[in-house]
Amino acid sequence: MSWFYRHLARPLLFSQDSEAIHDRTIQGLALASRSPWLCAAIRGWLDVPELPVTRFGLRFPNPVGLAAGMDKQALAVPVWRAFGFGFSELGGVTRHAQPGNPQPRMFRAVAEEALINRMGFNNPGATALATRLQDWQQRGAWPAHPVGINLGKSKITPLEEAAEDYATSFELLWSWADFFVVNVSSPNTPNLRRLQDKSALDEILARLQEINARRATGGKGPKPILVKMAPDLTFEALDEIVSLVAPRQVAGLVATNTTIARPVTHDAVAQHIYRETGGLSGRPLRARSTEVVRHLYRATQGRVPIIGVGGIGSAADAWEKVLAGASLVQIYSAMVYAGPGVVSEVVSGLRDRLAGARWDDVVGRG
Ligand SMILES: Cc1cc2nc3c(=O)[nH]c(=O)nc-3n(C[C@H](O)[C@H](O)[C@H](O)COP(=O)(O)O)c2cc1C
Repeated sequence: MSWFYRHLARPLLFSQDSEAIHDRTIQGLALASRSPWLCAAIRGWLDVPELPVTRFGLRFPNPVGLAAGMDKQALAVPVWRAFGFGFSELGGVTRHAQPGNPQPRMFRAVAEEALINRMGFNNPGATALATRLQDWQQRGAWPAHPVGINLGKSKITPLEEAAEDYATSFELLWSWADFFVVNVSSPNTPNLRRLQDKSALDEILARLQEINARRATGGKGPKPILVKMAPDLTFEALDEIVSLVAPRQVAGLVATNTTIARPVTHDAVAQHIYRETGGLSGRPLRARSTEVVRHLYRATQGRVPIIGVGGIGSAADAWEKVLAGASLVQIYSAMVYAGPGVVSEVVSGLRDRLAGARWDDVVGRG
């Protein structure tokens, strides 16, 4: 599958503008998502093995998830399970609908298997997303895996009112997802990353947990709330966030978002692309994101589930994250470079490496 994608589909897709082909692909997947038999056929064809993992009260059919940003509008919700993902994170969504930054804003550095984006949370807003998710549920098309929502801050909302902005989105979307990720780490919304400061993040988490406590009745909830971090934070800054985990009942940490750093590349085209403003993802992010996972695992004594994300394109990359301390992983850029067959490759490769051992016995053992 990956061979077919890399050699036949990819050249065709890469002959077009990065965002344009992304949008067209999602539109195609949205159509496929409306056909239960097509989703079943895709799932049967890709044949991803089971590798169940339980974290923060949710059962994941396998530990490999779709990272945030791929399906910002929840247009193709059922297809992610058909591709074999063990969970999906939709969004980032903001309280208010917004167009994002001017185009072009997504770039491929093919030789490095990297992307740079400065999308700026282009999304339909929390109300529209809630309606769409409700629609998938009413159609009976809800995927058989945990669904998370990535929450960002609206650009028009001043930083001082950020907590209210996140809280309103959370309230609107509370019923429609299994877990939530507070994204204070995107480099593409002015000053957003200042919300990673302890007091600002504490205020946001306090508001969300207030809502969680009020909504959690009749056996439903509270919903797990995770925090997504930037790879550019120092270990000291990461520790500040870790210090909020217990008091604010943070269910898990997502490491990492894209980086504003630009590693050395000898490829002339990549050098040119690297001059674009925005967050870098894909292969060059792998090592730093693993380093952050390892630090977080140690800082939390392995007691807090970590979702490892950044530069995973093979089972070996995913295994590296697991040994460093990630009990779940996510993929974005490798979907662009290797296609959906990468999910099956990674899950099968993880099962082989596990060789019958318990998942919990290998997480963080590297
Ligand atoms: C085009 C694009 C859009 C993204 N949008 C979001 C987003 O809305 N929220 C978020 O938390 N991360 C977003 N990300 C970051 C990814 O979820 C992921 O953390 C990052 O790409 C690293 O994983 P990768 O190396 O597998 O791509 C985006 C990434 C890309 C490439």
